[in-house]
Amino acid sequence: MDDLIKKAASDLAQATMVSALTGAGASIESKIPAFRGKGGLWEKMDPMEVAHIDAFMQDPAKVWKLLIRDMKEVIDQAQPNDCHKGLAQLEALGKLQTVITQNIDGLHQMAGNTDVIEFHGTFAWQRCMDCDTHVETRRVDVSEIPPRCHCGGILRPNAVFFGELIPQEALWRSRQVATDCDIMLVIGTSAMVQPAAMMPVVAKETGATVIEINPESTPLTGEISDYIIKGTAGDTMNRIIADLDALL
Ligand code: APR
Repeated sequence: MDDLIKKAASDLAQATMVSALTGAGASIESKIPAFRGKGGLWEKMDPMEVAHIDAFMQDPAKVWKLLIRDMKEVIDQAQPNDCHKGLAQLEALGKLQTVITQNIDGLHQMAGNTDVIEFHGTFAWQRCMDCDTHVETRRVDVSEIPPRCHCGGILRPNAVFFGELIPQEALWRSRQVATDCDIMLVIGTSAMVQPAAMMPVVAKETGATVIEINPESTPLTGEISDYIIKGTAGDTMNRIIADLDALL
């Protein structure tokens, strides 16, 4: 693992355009549970019952009670961890331009990254299903479920449910970033959900080095990624940056 950390630092030192694709594993150390794998949210509930747009439209109160209310409590409290801070440091060092994230927690921006593509939207805002008014999630009163807009309409997260399209600009820009980068860091994603999982494939096809940081292998491992650093996101980022600092 030490050799791969050194290799990643040396690859980054030589690169000019670097992007990162992050998933739930990047936020685990901020106490936000992941979806898949041991202890993941989808072990406890069926995503088709709580995270599909049809389920929400059928019974918004049920989805608010089973998923969104708890998510609000967790995300309202969450703070960036060493992975988020490390990616912000990489940007400050001129070694990262864009973060494409599947996470909706806003922690990359809170850590200081300035170009974050929110592939699955954001949980920072709720929007009214009737009049489209946007309300900051931390200001939403959850004593009434489902919470409502002043117009009486039901509020929903400004995030992408299963069964919904990826925001067009996020998809378009992510493809561009994947095409243009020399390195894509793929951090804490199971690479099971499309089209996000295609971005490392696009990067690879257009000549980038794809580096995974994940304690577990993924469908990209050995197929698309050039190598995988099998560690946790925060610790691995700290070690890469320490080595990179010595090279710059
Ligand atoms: N550091 C880095 N990676 C970790 C860590 C850690 N400390 N702990 C776990 N992981 C890895 C797991 O091995 C797994 O590969 O994080 C990954 C989390 O995978 P998922 O829970 O599937 O998260 P993600 O890939 O972001 O899911 C994609 O699925 O349910 C939807 O919309 C949701 O955006 C989400 C999408």
